[in-house]
Amino acid sequence: MPAWDRVDHNDTRRLVPTPESERCFSRRSLLIQLLGLSAAAIAGRARAGGSPNHSAPLGLASMNRAAGRPFAPLLGPIPLPSDGLNAAAQRSFYARVMLRDQLVVPEGYRSDVLLQWGDPLGSGRFGFNNDYLALTPLEPARALLTVNFEYISPRPWCAGYKQVMGRQLPFDRLKELLSGRGGSVDALALAADDPLRQPLLEVATAALEDVGIGVAEIALQPQGWRRHSGRFDRRLNGLTGLNRPQEQLRSSGPAAAVFLRRQRLGYDDGLGDRVIGTFANCAGGQTPWGTVLSAEENVQTHVVEPVHADGSSPSPARRPFQFDGERLEGLGNPFGLAGNKYGWVVEIDPRRPERPAVKHTALGRFRHEAVAVRARAGEPLVLYSGCDRHGGHLYRYVSEAVVRDPRDQANSRLLERGRLEVARFQPDGSGRWIRLQPQTPVEPLLPSHFEAFELPAVLPVPHSDRSQAGAELLRSDADQRAYRQRFGTLAELYPGNGDEQLGAILIDAHLAATAVGATPTARPEDTELDPRTGDLLITFTAGGSDGEGQADPAIFRGPAGESSWPYGWLMRLQDENPGQGKTGGAFRWRMVATGGTPWEGGMGFANPDNLAVDRAGNVWMVTDRASVNGSADVFGNNSCWLFPAAGPAAGEPLLFATGPIECELTGPCFDPSESTLFLSVQHPGEDNATHQQGQEEIQAYSLVDRDGGRFEQLRQVPLGSNWPSGRSGQIPRPGVVAIRRIDGAPLLG
Ligand code: FEO
Ligand code: CA
Ligand code: CA
Ligand code: CA
Repeated sequence: MPAWDRVDHNDTRRLVPTPESERCFSRRSLLIQLLGLSAAAIAGRARAGGSPNHSAPLGLASMNRAAGRPFAPLLGPIPLPSDGLNAAAQRSFYARVMLRDQLVVPEGYRSDVLLQWGDPLGSGRFGFNNDYLALTPLEPARALLTVNFEYISPRPWCAGYKQVMGRQLPFDRLKELLSGRGGSVDALALAADDPLRQPLLEVATAALEDVGIGVAEIALQPQGWRRHSGRFDRRLNGLTGLNRPQEQLRSSGPAAAVFLRRQRLGYDDGLGDRVIGTFANCAGGQTPWGTVLSAEENVQTHVVEPVHADGSSPSPARRPFQFDGERLEGLGNPFGLAGNKYGWVVEIDPRRPERPAVKHTALGRFRHEAVAVRARAGEPLVLYSGCDRHGGHLYRYVSEAVVRDPRDQANSRLLERGRLEVARFQPDGSGRWIRLQPQTPVEPLLPSHFEAFELPAVLPVPHSDRSQAGAELLRSDADQRAYRQRFGTLAELYPGNGDEQLGAILIDAHLAATAVGATPTARPEDTELDPRTGDLLITFTAGGSDGEGQADPAIFRGPAGESSWPYGWLMRLQDENPGQGKTGGAFRWRMVATGGTPWEGGMGFANPDNLAVDRAGNVWMVTDRASVNGSADVFGNNSCWLFPAAGPAAGEPLLFATGPIECELTGPCFDPSESTLFLSVQHPGEDNATHQQGQEEIQAYSLVDRDGGRFEQLRQVPLGSNWPSGRSGQIPRPGVVAIRRIDGAPLLG
């Protein structure tokens, strides 16, 4: 999901927009003036491959092979060390560029749309904003693709709903009625005959039906993987089990005891340990026993995130329904969903549609991005997961019992009982795990730790008034000392016994982790194990703060030591003896790649997100560069990069794909022969919805060539998207693509 709070640090100068009626003509004229080109020349330049998102110019492909690169990297919108151009050629090539509303892949590769929003799938449809992808082979020529549908982008969703679903929703009426009531409402409190009720329920239901998880059967044909409906097709959405209780999700682990409590401080949804639906499904992971783990991330958009000391949730009235055409939030409110039942890891078995999905509470409740699974015979099962928020933590789960056979389906039981730990990083490259359990001492970082870097302290800990749900911020060392005097251990913050007490800690994992001194990190996104080395790879998408959390500036530094660096990192973490089942184990960590422009010390990408590691250890990485307009900064459209594991280009980021306008590429995964890379194209046209011919913006940037020479770039950027149809005026639709070599060989030959 894009980070709405991200600050862009670049030299963008937007040209003043002209009035709407003149925009198309005036912008085009302005462009022609500025570029000193005729309209035909601009179109011709795009067709001829002068646009930066094209494959490398003629001659570069052979040069790339000579340089030991597995493909000819795309040329992005900014100069890169890997672009093969000298300084003069960089200044010339990058002086005028145009972003394209296409999924662009290197010469010799092709991409095909496999599935898109609205396609029939199981009991429903292929949902909106597809994210994580997991491939489960069935037999040589068939497979199941499990897909997360993360969230709704209101502009393109509203713009396309009628065409995709064949019926219109009462968006305008709902907006109008809500605006008369301040824009939001507690839907549960509406009278049965309130005119707002019907349109609100219609829109909220449709939105929750468009998120969740899907399983789609696909088949390998001579021209590549194609959709092939089959008996495993399945759809779980945000309301699964609402009308058919037998389809409700199950919960396992200590927090189920909290859900079953008769007496509680907060809200009771009446469902016991059952759960309605899943949403905010971001990335995930696969287990060696054939199941898929789906990570619920930004659930706070739709349900109440803070909890009481006993782990119960405040009333859904605390997160009212909201819709104004730009924001669609509080979707859990009309259905009375309890916030503490979301923010978990969900396990589903794509090959067994009859088996209910399970939320495993032993893994903790936080804004889970993804899950990495280490399963070795004779050792405990170990899972890693990051909490994607400013100041979110890195977690490790270690099962109580050991794995006997990694492929045994009974291993799901190992997710029910174990210990959850959080990482404490030290600046010297060491670190240790702190267990979240009642007897763990409360010792949050000192606020002065941040002040040493001239940053405000943002340390959210469980509220010291334990009758209140949620957090308070520690602002001074005196605050911290007083807090520790009052609460010596987690048991004093979360009173109770047995699973009820541990469950409350796990439900409030983020705040409990901050309280015990876990390191606040720089928005961890994917966690992925390197099959060659066993290292855990972690993408940290951005340093900085959003007022509710702040990355530790002693750990997350920019290339020149900056204490707040917004472009992200890739880290390798070596866990010492994770299989020995030792509490408080140690690890080593090091940053292996840093985002940012080359002239500021970065490697040319920005805001790393999902990862996939192939069998040879090559690391594939996608970016999530998003703000108000996802294409409105120096890094351009979101992209996919390859870090080769070996050869002369080892460790060098090579640009493999760029996405269409205002999208994010997510969910990279491979087929068994590693001849196909599946990618999700999430939220094309997120900011401006449907692109209309002539709607574009000219952006100006100050760039630096490889010799340090500064030069100006004018960039033509379409507004909105028509992906995948490519036809002007056609709505954009999120979808999944299959990328392969035209000659059918493995991706990296
Ligand atoms: Fe849904 Fe952290 O990305
Ligand atoms: Ca992201
Ligand atoms: Ca993500
Ligand atoms: Ca991944």
